[in-house]
Amino acid sequence: MTTRRIRKSYGSLAIGFLAASCILSSFAQTPPASNRQLASPALNVRVEALLKKMTLDEKVGQLAQFAAGYATGPGASNLRYDDLVAKGQLGSMLNVVGAEATNHYQHIAMEKTRLHIPILFGQDVIHGHRTTFPIPLAIAASWDPEAAELVARYGATEARADGIPWVFSPMVDIARDPRWGRIIESAGEDTYLGSMMARAWVKGYQQDDLSKPDSVAVSVKHFAAYGAAVAGRDYNAVEMGEPTLRQVYLKPYQAAVEAGAATMMSSFNSINGVPASANPFILTEILRKEWGFNGFVVSDWGAVGELKNHSIGDGPTVARKSLEAGVDMDMEGNLFGTVIADQVRSGKIPESVVDEAVRRVLRVKFALGLFEHPYVEQGPVYEATPERRAAARKVAEETFVLLKNDPVEGVGALLPLTKKTAKVVLIGPMADNQKEMLGAWAVTGDPKFAVTLRTALSERLGDKLLYAPGCGLLAGEDENVLKKVNFNGAASATGSLPVPDDAKTIAEAVLTAESADVAILALGEPTDWFEGEAGSRAHLGFTGNQEKLLEAVVGTGKPVILVVLAGRPLELKWAAGHVPAILQAWSPGVEAGHAIADVLFGDVNPSGKLPASFPRAVGQEPLYYAQLPTGRPAHGDLSHMPHNSLEKFMSRYVDEENSALFPFGWGLSYTRFSYSKPTVSRAEAPVREVLASGGDPVFTVGADVTNTGSVAGTEVVQLYIRNTAASVEQPVRELKGFSRVTLAPGETKHVEFPLGFNELSFYNAESKESVEPTTYSVWVGGSSLATLETSLRVVE
Ligand code: NOJ
Repeated sequence: MTTRRIRKSYGSLAIGFLAASCILSSFAQTPPASNRQLASPALNVRVEALLKKMTLDEKVGQLAQFAAGYATGPGASNLRYDDLVAKGQLGSMLNVVGAEATNHYQHIAMEKTRLHIPILFGQDVIHGHRTTFPIPLAIAASWDPEAAELVARYGATEARADGIPWVFSPMVDIARDPRWGRIIESAGEDTYLGSMMARAWVKGYQQDDLSKPDSVAVSVKHFAAYGAAVAGRDYNAVEMGEPTLRQVYLKPYQAAVEAGAATMMSSFNSINGVPASANPFILTEILRKEWGFNGFVVSDWGAVGELKNHSIGDGPTVARKSLEAGVDMDMEGNLFGTVIADQVRSGKIPESVVDEAVRRVLRVKFALGLFEHPYVEQGPVYEATPERRAAARKVAEETFVLLKNDPVEGVGALLPLTKKTAKVVLIGPMADNQKEMLGAWAVTGDPKFAVTLRTALSERLGDKLLYAPGCGLLAGEDENVLKKVNFNGAASATGSLPVPDDAKTIAEAVLTAESADVAILALGEPTDWFEGEAGSRAHLGFTGNQEKLLEAVVGTGKPVILVVLAGRPLELKWAAGHVPAILQAWSPGVEAGHAIADVLFGDVNPSGKLPASFPRAVGQEPLYYAQLPTGRPAHGDLSHMPHNSLEKFMSRYVDEENSALFPFGWGLSYTRFSYSKPTVSRAEAPVREVLASGGDPVFTVGADVTNTGSVAGTEVVQLYIRNTAASVEQPVRELKGFSRVTLAPGETKHVEFPLGFNELSFYNAESKESVEPTTYSVWVGGSSLATLETSLRVVE
C-alpha cells in the first residue's frame, strides 16, 4: 500500500483578510478594486476624456440595451435598431449573434455616430456556446472547478468568434429548492461549492485579462438571492434575515467579484420587500462599498420596467430609483432610454448619477479593447470539432452521479455492464432525443451534433442492442400543462411532442424488454418549458407516462438500469425502491451518449457527487443539508440522518422521513473507499489568531483515504464542520473543503484541509462576520452523511 500526502487548497477565498480587517476596524478600510483593469488610471483618463464630450442624450444612450435578435423574455421590442444605433441611443445589444449581424450594427455605431462608441454585444453563454457542455448543475456535480473553468474557456473563445465579448454567466444563485427550474443553471444548494465554482467560471471567461482577444466579460447573475424565491416559483419574492443573506446567499457573488467580475446582473425578485433592481443596500452598500466592485450592473430583462408591478412608483419614478440604487444599464426595457434625460433636465436626478453609470459602462468597453477592435472577422466554425467533442465528453463523464448500484440476485451489481452482456434493450423518450441531450439554455448549441445514448450504445453493441421509445415526454400530462407548452405553437419545435398512444408503445417496450437480458431506461423531463427560466414545477416526478413505463418494465422482472436525464433533482422514490441501478446524468451536452456509455461500461468510473439534495417527496422542499438546528430534532443531533424519531412532539413529518432520498455530496463508484478518523494539527487557537488569519490556515485537518476495491477510482473527499456554540445558531453541518482524489486499487492518500477565518467565521446578530470562542465538530468523508469525526476549539 502506498501513501501519498496531498495538500488541498480549495477553500482559501481571499475574502478573509478583508473580512477580518473589517471587523477589527469597523469597516474603515478602503475596499479593494475588484477588477484591476477597470481601475487602471490610463483607462480612466480615456473614460473621462470621452465623457466630457458626451451630450446628456448620448450618455443615456449608453445605458440602454435591446435584443435585436431572438427574445429571451416577454414583450420584446421591435424597434428600428439601425436608427437607434445611428443616433447614439443604444449602447448595448443582446441576442445578436455572428460576425455578420454584430458587424452590421457595429459599423453603424463606429461610422455614423458622432463619438464612435462601439456597441457592447451580450448573450447567454451558459454551458458552452456552439459546443454544448453539460449544464452548470452537472458541472457542479463534478466538484471540479477546473472543469467549470475549461467550459467557460471554450464558451468564451466561441462567443468571441461570434462577435460576443460579454456573456450573461455565471449564474451563482444558491438554489435550495428544485421546484425552481433555474436550479439547472446553478451550482446547487451549497455556498462553499458554489463559491468555488463561481470563481472558476469567472477565471475561465475573463482569464484575468479582459483585453485578450479570446476573453469575454462576465455578467454574474442574478444579484441577489434570486434562487430563494418563495415556493420555488420563478420571479417570486425573497424574504430572509440579513445574516443568512450574507452567510449563505451573497458569498458566491462576492467570490465572483473578488475573481474580477466585470459586470453583474440585478435580479427580478425583491428582498425583504425591496426589489433587487432598485435596492441601494445590495447594489451600492454591499456590492460597491463593501466589496469594491468597479464594473457595471445591467438589469435583468425588463426588470426596471417591472418595478412598476412591484408597486414602487410609475415609470419615471422606478427608473430613477433603479439608477440611483446602482443599476447602470436597462436590459430590454427602454425606461432608462426614455425617462432619465428629462428627469436630469428637470433637476430630479443629478447628472453626476448618470455620469457615474456611463463611466462604469465605458470602462468595460475600453477594457475589452472594443474601441481598438470593434469588429469580428468571420472565424472558424467551432461546432463539434474533435478536440471540443473530446473535452465535452470528458467533462460530462465527471458529472454523472451513481445514485444506486445494488446487487441483483444471481447477477451481482448491474453496473458496470460487461461486454459479455448478451442483449440490452434501451427504452425511453430520452434514449434517442438529440435536442434533450443539450439541456436548457443551450442557446446556440445545435442538436444535430448531439450524440444520443441509442447511437452510442449501438456503436458498442451493434445488433445486440434493442430499442423501444416506450412513451413520449408529455403524453399523459394534464391538458392545462399541454396548453402551456403549446403556447404560441412552440412545442412543435421542442422535440418533446407527445407520442399519441402511450399504452401501445409501453406494451411494445415491455415485450422488447422480455426478450433482453437487461433493460436500460433513459427517462427525465423536457428541458423546454419544464426547466430553466420560467420552468418552475409543483410536482417533481418524471413527466407524462414515464413512471408508468418504468413500473411496467420493472414488472417484467428483467434487471433494470435507470439513467435519469434531468436538470434538477427529481422525486425518485419509487425508482429508488424498485430499480437496482440508477445513474443521474443531468443534461450532458453534445457528447451525451458517448459519455454515458463510457460510464455504463466502466471505461470511466463514476465520480460525481450530488450538489443538491434529492427529496423523497416534493413536500420536503426546500430541502438542504445545511439546515439550522431545531429544539426538537427528529434524529438527535444529526438531523440529516435517514430515519425520523417515532416520538410525537418532534420536528418531523408524520408521513415521510425528514432526510433526503439521496443527500448532498452523495455519489457511488465502481470501487470502494475507506477513511481514517480525521486528525487536527492543534487542539485549539485563540480568537485573535483566527481573526487575523484571512485565507491562511490556523488548523489543518487531515485524513487518509484508501481505495479498498479492485479498480481505480476518484473520490471527492469532503470536509464538514459545525460551530457548536455561536451567539447565533449555526447550521448542523457546513461544507468547508473538498478534494478530488484519484486512487489506484489499494492506494492510500493523505488529504489535508486548511481551516482559518474564511472557513470558521459566521455572521452574528449584527450581520458582521465574526469568530467567537467555541468548539467545532469536524467530519471528513464521502458525503454530507460522513460520520468520522474530530473537533477543535477556538478560545478567548
Ligand atoms: C432573463 C434571464 O433571467 C437572464 O438570466 C438572462 O441572462 C436574460 N434574460 C437575457 O437573456
